Amino acid sequence: MNTSLKFKAVVFDMDGVITKTALTHAAAWKKMFDEYLLKREKEHGEPFVEFTHAGDYLPYVDGKPRYKGVQSFLESRGIIIPFGDPADDPGTETICGLGNRKNFAFNEVLEKEGVEVYPSTVALLHELKAAGIKLGVASSSKNCKPVLERVDLLDIFDARVDGVVSAELGLHGKPEPDIFTTACDIFGVKYAEAIVVEDAVSGVQAGKKGKFGLTLGIARENNRNELLENGADFVVEDLEEIGGIAGLNELFLKFKK
Ligand code: BG6
Ligand code: MG
Repeated sequence: MNTSLKFKAVVFDMDGVITKTALTHAAAWKKMFDEYLLKREKEHGEPFVEFTHAGDYLPYVDGKPRYKGVQSFLESRGIIIPFGDPADDPGTETICGLGNRKNFAFNEVLEKEGVEVYPSTVALLHELKAAGIKLGVASSSKNCKPVLERVDLLDIFDARVDGVVSAELGLHGKPEPDIFTTACDIFGVKYAEAIVVEDAVSGVQAGKKGKFGLTLGIARENNRNELLENGADFVVEDLEEIGGIAGLNELFLKFKK
């Protein structure tokens, strides 16, 4: 352990922070919701208003667990359908059915295009690991494990609290801080001694609510202000800007609560 470092753990979101899969998710959500909204136009005469990235994905869906994302977006459009059951067929018109339909589309693209990482995040992960810092991944995604496996990063993490683990433990998803706090509890590290790294509005809200030592936002979407307004202490566009582990330590000292 490098004793000049003042933080003990870093908990990373995955989609959009470690892997470039945030865009894969966004495209799959758009495909599913646009098809559904067009169907509603035909069946109920509701004028079709397309699902957009900035107006719908980022505020209502990004970072949230699958069915919570469906629920938040439909609510924003005043659409009420039954919740259903996670075992629902993708053809069922329920919140779970629509979520499962999107998951099918997501996995199709994943299979075809594979997964890419952000090299700056991977470099920082290795630097932190070598310095003895505990590493966590806190992702809402139930696809977290297979995605990390594809890029050979599963084993670098000391704790993984993802969509599958959350469902097993009954954890509240982002914007609640539970999945980040659970990772710290596994390490036995105080929240004030941990750093959260997030690209989603719901994720930095979780970082703020959990009173972590530092909530570092990554604005991949030209959304620096939204991240700052929702709880990020500091925002970069990519982790290459922070100056490695020493730069991260300086940021932690500057913002620690
Ligand atoms: C988050 C993504 O990490 O996981 C969201 O930002 C996604 O876009 C959510 O909807 C849930 O993912 P999954 O793979 O469980 O449907
Ligand atoms: Mg994300």
